[in-house]
Amino acid sequence: MRAEWRNGTGGTDGYAGNRRRRLPGDPTQAQRVARMIRVDQAGEFGAKRIYEGQLAVLGDTPIAPVLQHMADQEREHLDTFNRLIGDRQVRPSALYPLWHVAGFALGAGTALMGEKAAMACTVAVEEAIDEHYAAQRDSLPDDEEDLRAIIERFRLEELEHRDTGLDHGAAQAPAYRLLSTAIKTGTRAAIWLAERV
Ligand SMILES: [Fe+2]
Ligand SMILES: [Fe+2]
Repeated sequence: MRAEWRNGTGGTDGYAGNRRRRLPGDPTQAQRVARMIRVDQAGEFGAKRIYEGQLAVLGDTPIAPVLQHMADQEREHLDTFNRLIGDRQVRPSALYPLWHVAGFALGAGTALMGEKAAMACTVAVEEAIDEHYAAQRDSLPDDEEDLRAIIERFRLEELEHRDTGLDHGAAQAPAYRLLSTAIKTGTRAAIWLAERV
């Protein structure tokens, strides 16, 4: 499953995937792992806010328990990264207020378009997160097996959320392709930002 290619010249600073010689100015291994924890904590916070936004609109409808189950899993993901950010003294994303508002707005906004659009939002976000977690899993250093196992478990739960969205008619949402592409692009941009800021 993991990329096992090695550049063979040594001095790669423990890169597990994407191995190449570290250049001056490149982040150290510890900085790379800290960046991963920062973006994951921000992302799980954003995910929790998306479901809070959806529940604010759809909380009294028959779909609410399905949303609540996913929200509960996001809560557990967030709790885990909150613990890691504390244990490892990683600076959280400075854009927390943005994730607070943007996550809720995305959840509530899509829910206002209807249940299927809310599900389309989940599918698009989780597809982007699946890619993101898979890339992290493959590039974590060899001595981060515990973190790799956490990320892989969460990735599989995100895929369950994607499947839940598809089972509940995501693809029948109005303007599904457009909505999905926009949300996925936005999610990737948010990941890029939260890794850095
Ligand atoms: Fe999550
Ligand atoms: Fe999720």
